[in-house]
Amino acid sequence: MTSQEEDDLLEKAAERFGTPCFVYFTERIEQRIALLRENFGERLELSYAVKANPNPTLLAWLSGAVDRLDISSAGELRLAREAGWNPALLSFTGPGKREVEIGEAIRAGVGHLVLESLREARLADRIARRAARVQPVLLRISPESLPKGFGDQMAGRPTPFGIDIEDADEAIAEIQSLTGLHLAGFHIYAGTQCLKAEAIAETYRHLLAIFGTLCSTHGVVPEVLVMGSGLGVPYHEGDTALDLPSIAASLRRELAVLRENPRFARTQMVLELGRYLVSEAGYLVTRVISTKVSRGRRIAICDGGMNNHLPASGHFGMVVRRNYRMHRIGKASDSPPEPLDVVGPLCTSIDRLASGIELPRIEEGDLLAVHNSGAYGLTASPVHFISHPLPEEVLVMAGTLLRATRVLGRVSSPDDPVRVIDAAHPAAANQNA
Ligand SMILES: Cc1ncc(COP(=O)(O)O)c(C=O)c1O
Repeated sequence: MTSQEEDDLLEKAAERFGTPCFVYFTERIEQRIALLRENFGERLELSYAVKANPNPTLLAWLSGAVDRLDISSAGELRLAREAGWNPALLSFTGPGKREVEIGEAIRAGVGHLVLESLREARLADRIARRAARVQPVLLRISPESLPKGFGDQMAGRPTPFGIDIEDADEAIAEIQSLTGLHLAGFHIYAGTQCLKAEAIAETYRHLLAIFGTLCSTHGVVPEVLVMGSGLGVPYHEGDTALDLPSIAASLRRELAVLRENPRFARTQMVLELGRYLVSEAGYLVTRVISTKVSRGRRIAICDGGMNNHLPASGHFGMVVRRNYRMHRIGKASDSPPEPLDVVGPLCTSIDRLASGIELPRIEEGDLLAVHNSGAYGLTASPVHFISHPLPEEVLVMAGTLLRATRVLGRVSSPDDPVRVIDAAHPAAANQNA
């Protein structure tokens, strides 16, 4: 699809569903999946991290397109099930799993419970035995170090995530002694948003070495080994897209060697990823409500802002705020670019989508498309702050616009069983009585 065709569809979406709205082009996700398959072939399965974008229509579309889902709450479990996913294809990560969530996941038949602590292991064991089941689990490992250059990495610091590798031997021994659990493999989420191919390849080699050591030390013949991918996307002007073929080429030998080892001959390697699959497929479309010049700077005030797209406002893990790429929809560039601040409708100075971005002259009524909005958009944003209407979400499939089911409000109805408080926590039960 050309960018003109995309713009026509974005304009149509704005007319039909109002602004702000999120528009996701499934064709772009398909291309991403094809690129990953082409490069990693059968060696790595793809597990989509639902937290990146839990839109129910998107999840339904993804079934059959990716191999697995990673969920991080009972809410995400329900979304996945409603979207038609077989629970056996789900893994459940998250450092703060409540007892009721673990119970719901085990009863639902979740494929892999990813243990982040011995507390979870003991709870899951009890629940599984009570239900006369053996629950397959993966142990999430927090490495002591990772190769430099990986960016925002999760290693070598105090962390709520997983078991520190320094403590892994004891933890594995205990888990192996629990009859309600079956240790099916290991999980490492190494970090996020890396655009350096060699750093990623080096990190994956390191993770494979850790898996190798853990499995041989503890006699584990793993069914599944999960690598949290870190694959990044070019959010900002000047960012270069990831060179996936060079990562694959650089790992080919290690993956082949692993396969030749009888211990790993039947192991399914899994790449767990969110943004790399969906981020670039999505746009936030927002209309300019008014423009003004303040102290020499032109400002466009839009109907969507950080309440819809917190990451683009720089308040979601960005150390130094940089502008997301964006463009004016539909009009030819008839004026030279000029610096512009793009802000949302909220009464706070942090509601800013761009500072000094170079765009052609923007007028009241223009539509702007914020790029890279397919991941960590609506559900990562403070949508209720200042009570503006909730944006629609739209899927574009084969050139047709489809109003997607909204996720907001769907996972926290008053009779949500997640709220039925665990008797093991009487203080919480009193609060909810
Ligand atoms: C355990 C786990 N897996 C996968 C992801 C997805 O990360 P990304 O969107 O950077 O691929 C996250 C993100 O926080 C995560 O915590």
